[in-house]
Amino acid sequence: MPTRFGLASSFSTVAPHYDATRHIPAASLHACYDRLIAAGLFPGHGRICDAGCGTGQISLPLAERGYMVAGYDIAAEMVRLAQAKCRSGWQASYAVADVRALPEADAAFDAIVVSKLFMHIADWELACRELIRVARPGAPLVHIRDRDAYGQAVRRHFTNRIRAAGIDTLFLGPDPGSSAELVAFMAAQGWTRIPVAMSDIAWRFETSAGDTLRGLRERIFAEFWYVPEAVYAQALADTEAWAEAEPGGLDRTEIMTPHLAVEVFRPEG
Ligand SMILES: C[S@@+](CC[C@H](N)C(=O)[O-])C[C@H]1O[C@@H](n2cnc3c(N)ncnc32)[C@H](O)[C@@H]1O
Repeated sequence: MPTRFGLASSFSTVAPHYDATRHIPAASLHACYDRLIAAGLFPGHGRICDAGCGTGQISLPLAERGYMVAGYDIAAEMVRLAQAKCRSGWQASYAVADVRALPEADAAFDAIVVSKLFMHIADWELACRELIRVARPGAPLVHIRDRDAYGQAVRRHFTNRIRAAGIDTLFLGPDPGSSAELVAFMAAQGWTRIPVAMSDIAWRFETSAGDTLRGLRERIFAEFWYVPEAVYAQALADTEAWAEAEPGGLDRTEIMTPHLAVEVFRPEG
């Protein structure tokens, strides 16, 4: 479909794998929202936009609490999964739309939540501008990430092979490892970042080298989607050989202990 915007990564093809491979537990999100509400950084009720909602992970807990949730994503299959998780009585709707052109009036929302989106959009600043447009005066934009969830040894090895092939830029938008670009852009729009300590909100999951390799074979990890086919195939072959030779081989498991990293942006004044 032609678009007036730059490239953005739709997750429709990986939707069936999404929740199994990128999961933030609802209990952790409830703990996060409790803390934000107690700090006066999140409204106790109202209409919430989940921008780039995916399968609804970060906003379904809000729907459960009685908020009116509108989630938007360009990937129809992700939206379908989000909608399927809604329970009767919840005021939540998930729909296909580009966050750079939301079908919403100005100042339509009491808060915006956004997780792991901007790195998947080349002109991510347009998404920020649009989110600012739909936020009512004073509404927060809550930026949520899960840290230390994706550093499995196999994935690190693969990334190193890709970088060794001369490919340094893996994401379309800002590198998720740093929020410096986002903070600077929002500051230029008059939105201040309010730091909120959340690193104690952590969880655990176990994963095997074989699982990660399967994901790489099926190309489910978005930061590698734009790596040329030949480079990808070579890095995968190297990584497979390395993983098989490691003690424990493909059955080797790792316990991952991700935690939340949350930033709140609010208009100054
Ligand atoms: C890593 S997933 C994050 C999904 C969800 N926010 C979460 O935390 O689980 C990134 C999502 O952004 C969506 N996306 C990418 N570009 C978009 C755009 N321009 N407008 C709306 N959604 C977009 C993708 O389809 C994908 O579902």
